[in-house]
Amino acid sequence: MRRKLVAGNWKMHGSLTENEALLAGVLAGVAGAKTEVAVCVPFPYLAQAQAKLNGSAIAWGAQNLSQHGKGAFTGEVSAAMLRDFGCKYVIVGHSERRSLYGETDALVAEKFEAAQAAGLVPILCVGETLSEREGGITEEVVARQLDAVIGKSGVGALADAVVAYEPVWAIGTGKTATPQQAQEVHAFIRGKIAGLDPAVAEGLIIQYGGSMKASNAAELLAQPDIDGGLIGGASLVAEEFLAICKAA
Ligand code: 13P
Repeated sequence: MRRKLVAGNWKMHGSLTENEALLAGVLAGVAGAKTEVAVCVPFPYLAQAQAKLNGSAIAWGAQNLSQHGKGAFTGEVSAAMLRDFGCKYVIVGHSERRSLYGETDALVAEKFEAAQAAGLVPILCVGETLSEREGGITEEVVARQLDAVIGKSGVGALADAVVAYEPVWAIGTGKTATPQQAQEVHAFIRGKIAGLDPAVAEGLIIQYGGSMKASNAAELLAQPDIDGGLIGGASLVAEEFLAICKAA
């Protein structure tokens, strides 16, 4: 049995005061959970996450990183800096980074490699837009996004990574993929990787993300190839997030 991973992506939300309460709430409720739990917080709150979560069952991470190690890159944050703050995970290639900040498949592959080189576990996001789904090219898009990373780092690199399938049309819209729609794509991803390395495919955690919440998590997580969730909005409410962790 693969382990499951439920990770919160806070996106650009929070404050020192709000985070204090949210982290305390999640910490209080997570005791004894069988699922691995993580939160990916904005950069300025990494120190707070580290202070609150160190030694607990909850891991923490960031939502983006630079592809560069160091240098004249004003405003950027390196993988080594994230390690300095105890990050285990970093989200790479989130659709908001791809669409709003122009991150290409090639750039995402560079970031993926930089994360692993520093000992971080990348959570690689893939997923199609609504028009791509309607155009019948979901698998083509997801394959292209995966191939960029596999081409650069090799399929073996996925042994130390997590993939998150996040259909863009389901993110923050309240429109969740049906369990069948999600399972189809998850199975496609696992099958594609199995064609290259069956052992890597078997062990790979593939999370679902996109309007996952307490009320729909159990059904999604019951699918054979859905190994957890990457949770946006619902990760900002301790009870909602904990309910999803329990469902996993
Ligand atoms: P929502 O759960 O708010 O739809 O966001 C999903 C997401 O983008 C997680 O990375």
